[in-house]
Amino acid sequence: SKGNHRHYMLKEIYEQPIVVAQTLRSYLKRLDEEISLPIPEFDLSSIRRVTIVACGTSFYAGMVAKYWFEQFARVPVDLDVASEFRYRAPVLEEGGLALFISQSGETADTLAALRHARAEGQKIAVVVNVPTSSMAREADLLLPTHAGPEIGVASTKAFTCQLAVLAALAANLAQAKGRLTRAEERELVRHLGEAPAAINAALAYDEEIQLVAQRIAAARDVLYLGRGPDYALALEGALKLKEISYIHAEGYAAGEMKHGPIALIDEAVPVIVLAPSGPLFDKTVSNMQEVQARGGKVVLISDYDGIAAAGDDCIARITMPKVHPLIAPLVYAVPVQLLAYHVAVAKGTDVDQPRNLAKSVTVE
Ligand code: F6R
Repeated sequence: SKGNHRHYMLKEIYEQPIVVAQTLRSYLKRLDEEISLPIPEFDLSSIRRVTIVACGTSFYAGMVAKYWFEQFARVPVDLDVASEFRYRAPVLEEGGLALFISQSGETADTLAALRHARAEGQKIAVVVNVPTSSMAREADLLLPTHAGPEIGVASTKAFTCQLAVLAALAANLAQAKGRLTRAEERELVRHLGEAPAAINAALAYDEEIQLVAQRIAAARDVLYLGRGPDYALALEGALKLKEISYIHAEGYAAGEMKHGPIALIDEAVPVIVLAPSGPLFDKTVSNMQEVQARGGKVVLISDYDGIAAAGDDCIARITMPKVHPLIAPLVYAVPVQLLAYHVAVAKGTDVDQPRNLAKSVTVE
């Protein structure tokens, strides 16, 4: 049931601290100890390349994972949407690892891509939420998310649980590749363990986000900008807004704005900037200022330090807790989801059952 929430989507957004903790618990033996995957005999040290394939929101979780696997484990990652992967004659090295991400475990394109990869001699890892699904059955390495049933068509808690599993996998891969000292590994595990509380802290900004949503609801177009893993979050934010509020939205890598999309900017286009403080912060802020110089209305989502450093030229600022880069995507997912949710409610759309969409896409 929806409990005392107005929609399943809101209930599922609020479940995230619990289900992310639940998911992490099955991957972390003890929070101060090493990470253990459910199938420890699976040898990660021999992996030379990972091919990640998924659709929609699950694809954006894969995109975050690409940044993590490359940064922490120095393992090269190929990333595709399933409908492209199947038909582009991908070159796959014998014995490589192909990783499929799916809430339902039944998405037709992802399942067909999985079977194609198996036929090409790949080991098959699956991050999946439905344990009885086709993809779960066909995995060599099954990495379950423990989000519980997701009813809202727009994926929320399944996404953050996918990120939790992928973060644990990134740390495990980094460790198997000899990229982490024991102390560094413990540090990463400790930060991962902080994710549920940080998500909870992000949820506390719900009312503020609802106020921002009132200002976005009248827009015809909305842009989302981010760098690194927050570029994936920008794409996810735009997808969420499109699918439940029917407002046209696009996500861009912040540095790409000047190569075309900045031509769209005027006073009528809200621009949501996702910019946790860190090495990329100044770069994103300068992209934000380029938008502001053209009359763009910026909503900045950052942490306290970032908000303090960015000046007050924004129409709204949403303060996130300051967290380690490994868990920032799990935290920044929350304002992105809540913003889409409240805009949709303000517009009066059917939030849990948006038009033209099905929960599980079992056709090509
Ligand atoms: C967006 C959404 C879809 C799914 C996509 C893949 O909110 O829910 O984009 O993420 O259809 O579905 P799964 O993860 O079941 O393979």
